[in-house]
Amino acid sequence: MLVLGIETSCDETGVALYDGGRGLLGHGLHSQARLHAEYGGVVPELASRDHIRHLLPLTRGLFEQTGCRLGELTAVAFTEGPGLAGALLVGASTANGLAYALGVPAVGVHHLEAHLLSPLLSTPAPAFPFVALLVSGGHTQLMRVAGVGDYELLGETLDDAAGEAFDKTAKLLGLGYPGGPALARLAGRGKPGRYTLPRPMITSGDLDFSFSGLKTAVLTVVKARALDAAARADLAAEIESAIADVLIAKALAAVERSGIDRLVVAGGVGANLTLRSRLDTRARQRGVAVFYPELEFCTDNGAMIAFAAALRLEHASPITHHPSPGSFTVRPRWALATLAAAS
Ligand code: KG4
Ligand code: ZN
Repeated sequence: MLVLGIETSCDETGVALYDGGRGLLGHGLHSQARLHAEYGGVVPELASRDHIRHLLPLTRGLFEQTGCRLGELTAVAFTEGPGLAGALLVGASTANGLAYALGVPAVGVHHLEAHLLSPLLSTPAPAFPFVALLVSGGHTQLMRVAGVGDYELLGETLDDAAGEAFDKTAKLLGLGYPGGPALARLAGRGKPGRYTLPRPMITSGDLDFSFSGLKTAVLTVVKARALDAAARADLAAEIESAIADVLIAKALAAVERSGIDRLVVAGGVGANLTLRSRLDTRARQRGVAVFYPELEFCTDNGAMIAFAAALRLEHASPITHHPSPGSFTVRPRWALATLAAAS
């Protein structure tokens, strides 16, 4: 089985070839970070146009790089949602056109399911069931994952996602877009503790999150007086620390409640090295094994899309098959917990 995966849900154009027997054969990525930087965030219309510009050259390069031929494809997978409607449509129409021309199925993939399953691309892969902490730019969720498509929502954010908390507080500190990596870099030069920021809902006793209060607290500090370089770095370190503290506390509480000692961390914020090292230490003390995707597959990429589709096809349970051109759809809003389990 050879699957081409196409990711265009937001500001990264990603393509990959996944082979059922040989694993990931290759992948290509074009980041739009520089394109959106001057606007301080993703401009949807520019994102769509840039996907159009890069998707086909990137795909051609992938076939050249791997030596594969179009005729060998078993399926073409694409991100069906959630994401930006126009951006999703670029990947969906390309995938469906290609699949139709080749006479193979086009398989719609749920972007968050792909993030969730991405640690299974690494070795050792976590066995089912596991608890997953899904931390992307738009979502912060704790899930119980019993198998492919078998997801139970344990808790989620009531307002901002963890990635949004990074991005919005980074903006308050005058850092560029994307904020998460920039804030993490600045935090590396500072120390937490000079400022005291809240750890919202850390003792709420449930598995939900809230990050909007953190943003307000940072705004108060920033408005109070001008910060020199050292103070900005210390504030960044405290922000990173506060977000990590909450994520770790809730993830370990979810592990304890569910009685499962395997934890998966997926999504862009999972690339944060402070979160990783602190979580590893705390989890080790409790005998919990933590699994992450490779760093390059934490943020959006085509590999996780090809891989999730291959898993679905392997279980004969693709979420959506699109047999004819014009019949495809995209789902900008699409809850992960509504997915059907693989049979
Ligand atoms: O999963 P992702 O690439 O896209 C979505 O599906 O949303 O996640 C993007 C989010 C952004 O909010 C970005 O700031 C954050 O992940 N992020 C990070 C880091 N790398 C990406 N946050 C903290 N530290 C990082 N190193
Ligand atoms: Zn994502």
